[in-house]
Order: sequence, then structure tokens, then C-alpha cells
Amino acid sequence: MSEFANTQPLSVLVIDDDNNLRSSICLNLEAAGFSTASLTSPKEALDKLEKENFDIVLCDLRMPDMDGLSFIKKCREQKVSAAIVLMTAFGSHDLALEALRAGAYDYISKPFEIEELVFTLRKIQEKENLKAENAALKSAINQRYNFSNIVARSEQMKEIFETIKRLASFNTTVLIVGESGTGKELLARAIHHNSPRRGKPFVAINCGAIPEHLMESELFGHKQGAFTDASRDKPGLFEEASEGTIFLDEIGEMPLHLQVKLLRALQEQKIRRIGDERLIDIDVRVIAATLRNLEKDVQEGRFRDDLFYRLNVVSIKIPPLRERPDDIQVLAEHFMKKHNKKLGLSIKAIEPAAMKCLLNYHWKGNVRELENCIERAMVLSESDSITVDSLPPQILKAASERGNYLPEPLSDDNLSIKQRTRALEIDLILRALKKTGGNRTHAAKVLEISHRALLYKLKEYGLSDVEKG
Ligand SMILES: Nc1ncnc2c1ncn2[C@@H]1O[C@H](COP(=O)(O)OP(=O)(O)OP(=O)(O)O)[C@@H](O)[C@H]1O
Ligand SMILES: [Mg+2]
Repeated sequence: MSEFANTQPLSVLVIDDDNNLRSSICLNLEAAGFSTASLTSPKEALDKLEKENFDIVLCDLRMPDMDGLSFIKKCREQKVSAAIVLMTAFGSHDLALEALRAGAYDYISKPFEIEELVFTLRKIQEKENLKAENAALKSAINQRYNFSNIVARSEQMKEIFETIKRLASFNTTVLIVGESGTGKELLARAIHHNSPRRGKPFVAINCGAIPEHLMESELFGHKQGAFTDASRDKPGLFEEASEGTIFLDEIGEMPLHLQVKLLRALQEQKIRRIGDERLIDIDVRVIAATLRNLEKDVQEGRFRDDLFYRLNVVSIKIPPLRERPDDIQVLAEHFMKKHNKKLGLSIKAIEPAAMKCLLNYHWKGNVRELENCIERAMVLSESDSITVDSLPPQILKAASERGNYLPEPLSDDNLSIKQRTRALEIDLILRALKKTGGNRTHAAKVLEISHRALLYKLKEYGLSDVEKG
């Protein structure tokens, strides 16, 4: 079907051998805002459709030189994009159904009022407009929100996606820099999955988590008998990642003597297993990540400058979540859906007040902290939405300190006394604790409840640790 544009009148080709009927239809459709052309025979129509696009073809099911069914089939062969609407005589219901199956868009039974026809054609227009909108929306969403499971809406992340798209297909080394939990590993995987190496292994090693004396063997492998525990030959991760990608996480933690070996491996594209004489060719793309400031480490002699320059061919800096607040809502909703599946829950929404707390929070732990927070809230939530009081204490505390903990005006959408009371009590308690410097006895007095009642509420609301933080 051709594109239906809202602004242009729909073009309709009317085919009928009854001259009176044909011209009356055309006149009426024109009056209703359509643009029309008309012909007496389907054969002529096929010729015209060859050269010209119409949005809709309106034709009779019974025509002199070709019946409606054959006409539809010919149109399909000819790849006519117009929606075909048939006019059928009373009682030819079965034939009309057959026509629909053959590819007609709709039919209208004769005799009909012109309003009925206009209504049918308008419905087609609406449907097609919607379809076009949906398609446009979907592709926009895909481009904006989805890059190998990475959810983002911020300009900063979109720029990163663009960079990745451009560099994924090359073998360049990439250095990803970002605070903990910003999605460095996710990004590394995205690069791999968007590269021609996608069918080959992606091997990750956390250089900060492996004891120094094991790291060389992990990376490069060893020969049997190379050291006490080496009971047999073992290939290293570089060999395992053959033709794929190796992800060197926390590269800043790599000891200096191994940095030399790594640099040599990268330059020569060869490695040597511990205790082995042979050099083994490697074909591996390297992606490294760090949360450290490697330039500073270089200046201070903790990281080799030659390795730094070798790794830093392309560097991608992922900004912390608090610097891209546009991503918070889409991420929160993404995690809600993800954990619904994982936990078998059906939480439907994040309450506006809760979302406000999330948007204003200083996410030190970045996306990982947000994900944990959503999961926790879902488990604790007593309704089918994520409410303020199911958020973790540190977030409530921060929101209360900013004084925007209870900002939502009352609305008829949620009249739960229980939820409001909880939220209000939490807010009052947090304020009292702040005012009294965390002194619970004083806070209880300010709140005009007993010390015991305060302790009980702190426990109930998961706030027991708050005044310490
Ligand atoms: N943009 C994002 N879209 C969806 N999920 C994300 C996004 N960013 C991070 N995550 C998720 O957050 C968690 C942390 O991400 P990841 O492990 O990639 O971070 P990291 O920077 O490697 O963290 P660390 O420095 O602690 O190793 C993962 O569960 C990851 O799937
Ligand atoms: Mg990581």
C-alpha cells in the first residue's frame, strides 16, 4: 500500500461500467475530500495502475471483461500497492469473502449510501495512518532505546551507540572508561555482538579479581610441568578467545610485569604459554575497561605508557548515571519488565512519586544500583506498582533531605490510606531523625510517639540503618 499522508487527500480509482453510478461516486467522494479518477474497465485500470499510484481502488465484483477476483490477483502480480475495496451485489457474501482472502482490503454491499462508502474509506485511512505511525515509532524506539539490550535515551549514550556502530566492524582495540556499574561490560559485549566476530567467543577476565601469580597462566596458558600445579597443558584465555574478543576488565589492576607481556602479545599477535618455547599466533580483538584514571596511573608510574597508548586507540567514556538523568526512567522501566519475568511478578508501574525519588537520586552505584533498587522494591511492594515506601532507605533519606519526598498532590487515582500513611510516616521519621542528628530518643519525642513505637516503625519501614548513613 502506498503511504497515506494525513495532509494529502486520499486518491481513489473508481472502476465501474455503470456510467451514472461511477460519476455519482466520484462526485460525492470529491465532495468528501478525496481525489478521484475513474475508468470503465479493469483492463484499463491495470494499465493505469502500472503507471500511477493510488491509495484506494474501488471496483465492482462483477465487471464485463474481468471479474473482481481475477482483477485482485492481477493487481497482486503487478504489485499494486493500493487497497482494493470491492462493491458487491446483495447476496454475494461468499464471493466477497473469497475476494478478501485473495487480498482485497474490504468490501461494501450494494446498494449503499455514499456516507457508508466514505466511512469505509476513512477507516482504511485511519488504519493505514496508524500502521505507518506504529512502524515509524517502532523503528525510532529500536534506534533510540535498543542497542544489544542497552537501554538508553540520553544524548550521551546515543553518541556512544554511534561510535560503537562505526568501530564495531574493525579490529581496533577499545578502552572503555567508566565508574563501577555504568555498563562497561555490557558495552564491550555490544561491540562484540555488532562485529563480524559475533559468532566466535567473547571471553571476559577481571584482572582485579585474579591473584597475580595465576593471571599469566589464565591469560596465556601453560605447558604441563611449567609449575607445581601444572599437571597438563592448558590453553589460556587468549587462545580460548580465538577469532573472537577478549575483554580485559579492570585493566588498571594488571601488575606491571604482566603489562609488558600483554603489550608484546598485542604488538606481535603472538603469545607463549608458560614453560613453552613455541609462539602461538592469535587472532583476538581486545577490549579493555577501567574505572581508574589511567593517564594519572601512567604519570605516577603504576601503568605503562606504551601499553596505555596501545589500548587507548579508541576510548569510550561512559558517563555516570547521575550525569544522564534522561536514562533513569527508561532504565527503571526496563528493569521492572526484566524482573517481572525473572521473579514471576506482574508489577505494572512505578508511581510518579517513586519515580521522582529515582530521578533525583545521586546514583553512586550507577545502573547496577538502580537495577538492585528496582528489584528490591518489586519484592517488597504490596501492590501492583512500585511505591515510594518500597524504595531503599538511602533513597528515601536523600529524597527527604531534599524535601521532595512527598511532593505528589493527592489524586483520585490512588486513595490508599495505607500507602499515604506509610509515606507520610516515613517522611516525618526521616525529618525527625535529621533534625535530632539521628538521636532516636529525641526523635521519638519530636514525633510524639514512644521510643519503642519508633523502633518498631524503623524496622517496619526498613529504616533501621538510616541515621547512621
Ligand atoms: N544502559 C543499560 N541498559 C540496560 N542495562 C544496563 C545498562 N547499563 C548497565 N546495565 C546493567 O547494569 C549492570 C551493571 O553493568 P555492567 O556489569 O556492564 O557494569 P560495569 O561498568 O562493568 O560495572 P563494574 O565496574 O562494577 O564491573 C548489569 O546488570 C547491566 O546489564
Ligand atoms: Mg564490569
